[in-house]
Amino acid sequence: LANVDKVKEKTLAMIKPDGVEGEYADVIKKTILDSGFEIAHEIELQLNEDTAKNFYAEHSSKSFFPSLVQYMTSGKVVIMVLEKENAISDWRALIGPTDANTAKETHPTSIRALCGVDTGRNCVHGSDSPQSAAREISFFFDKSTSDVSQRHDEL
Ligand code: TYD
Ligand code: MG
Repeated sequence: LANVDKVKEKTLAMIKPDGVEGEYADVIKKTILDSGFEIAHEIELQLNEDTAKNFYAEHSSKSFFPSLVQYMTSGKVVIMVLEKENAISDWRALIGPTDANTAKETHPTSIRALCGVDTGRNCVHGSDSPQSAAREISFFFDKSTSDVSQRHDEL
C-alpha cells in the first residue's frame, strides 16, 4: 500500500558528444531502463554555440567555459527526460562524479567511469536539483505539446 502513492520525479539526462560518437548510447539507455527509470522523452540534437552557452549559463564565468562549449557542440547529443521516484538524485548517483578519472577510482560501476575521459569529457549530464531539472527540461522540451523540435527551433 505504501507504494501506491509514490510520486514520480523527472530529470534531464544528456549523452554528450563523445558518448554518442563512442556508441555508448545503447548501453547507457539499457542501464537507465534496468535501473528503473522510464525514458519519457528523447531527442538527438546537434547543439549550436548559442544553445550550449545558454544551457550552461551558470558556468559562463569559469575558465573551462570555452572548452565546455566547444566540446558540447563537437557532435550530436542525446537528450532525455527520465522519470522515476527520486529520479534527480538517483540519476546523479548513477552517472558518478564530474571527473571521469575520479569516477573510475571511486565509482567504477558509474556511467562516467564507463565512457568518460576526464573532467571535461565526462560523457553524460544530469540535472543537479529540482530547480535545475525544471529549467533544463523546459529548456529542451515544450511541456504543453511535448514537441521537442518545435521548442528547440525557438532557442
Ligand atoms: P559541473 O556542473 O560542475 O559538473 P556536473 O556535470 O557533474 O554537474 O560542470 C558542468 C560541466 O562543465 C561538466 O560536466 C564538465 C565541464 N567542466 C569542465 O570542463 N572542467 C571543470 O573543471 C569542471 C568542474 C566542469
Ligand atoms: Mg552541474
